[in-house]
Amino acid sequence: MHEPLILAIETSCDDTAASVLRGLDVLSNVISSQDIHDHYGGIVPELASREHVKGIAPIVLAALQEAACTTSDLDAIAVTYGPGLPGSLIVGSHFAKGLALRLGIPIFPVHHIEAHLYSGHLEDPTLEFPAICLVVSGGHTSIVLLRSLQSFAVLGSTRDDAAGEAFDKVAKLVGLGYPGGPHVDRLAKEGNPLAIEFPRGLMHDGTFNFSFSGLKTSVRYYLRDHPDAPIHDVCASVQHAIVDVLVSKTLKAAREHDVRAIVVAGGVSANSELRARFAEECSKRHMQFVAPRPTYCVDNAAMIGFVAAHRYREGHRPMDYSFTIQAHALRASD
Ligand code: KG4
Ligand code: ZN
Repeated sequence: MHEPLILAIETSCDDTAASVLRGLDVLSNVISSQDIHDHYGGIVPELASREHVKGIAPIVLAALQEAACTTSDLDAIAVTYGPGLPGSLIVGSHFAKGLALRLGIPIFPVHHIEAHLYSGHLEDPTLEFPAICLVVSGGHTSIVLLRSLQSFAVLGSTRDDAAGEAFDKVAKLVGLGYPGGPHVDRLAKEGNPLAIEFPRGLMHDGTFNFSFSGLKTSVRYYLRDHPDAPIHDVCASVQHAIVDVLVSKTLKAAREHDVRAIVVAGGVSANSELRARFAEECSKRHMQFVAPRPTYCVDNAAMIGFVAAHRYREGHRPMDYSFTIQAHALRASD
């Protein structure tokens, strides 16, 4: 069988990313993170779009070069159509459309979170269905039942802030840089996770939903009342509270749906305590645990191409160049 050569493009937020896949094999995965936002303590959408405009052509060329191919070798293009920042999504989707139109090849619009969900299978093709996926990023926190590569169901999501947003907001409160998650993770290693009892929102409500806005408020009041609190202990205790809820709800979903495998995806899945806790809990239960490598956890184009490669295998050849960007969150696939 001829394995298609697919160029994938991802520009949903503040990373400009391109990847080339031969079938399901990743030949290149180039990611350029925009550090221009660091000065502002958060992403500035207008600046993000401008950086994508600057970066998109060089990043695509770098991905093609690393894969030792040219545009004329391509069989299809895949691109993120949403959700994300509209101005950022438009840059990637228009670049992809223009190139696909010029080459006369199919174009696969891919949902960003659906791509995160299957990054576990990109990392480890032996990962078995059904599986539970915890997708935790700066914009999303959901527990999803993966039935197959074509079918999934969202079991629960955050009611307010995403887990990454909670990390970022707390980091800002204690005076750390953006994005805050990696800073909190680093400082937490030297702190006592049991020093401060922060709230674990919706921990025992019986659903698979989350709430992190109370945690942020509680940290704000704690810092007001304890201005000399050791920052390491605050970081360790906040991280422990977030990880406790994420792990306990994901394990509950695995138990109720009788799955033998757990996957974590999205930027927050890089968190060292989260990975260690899942590895320990899954090993106790003889369950498979897959945590994709960091370049498949953060926003990347390989995961976008992977979803498209499966659709190509099933015989899809979409030639509709009129699709538009979309903001809708993750919905069940069927
Ligand atoms: O998936 P991602 O790269 O971008 C989207 O939000 O789509 O996720 C970024 C988020 C940020 O909130 C960042 O603080 C968080 O992931 N993050 C972490 C860690 N590394 C990144 N949070 C906790 N611990 C980490 N080690
Ligand atoms: Zn993402």
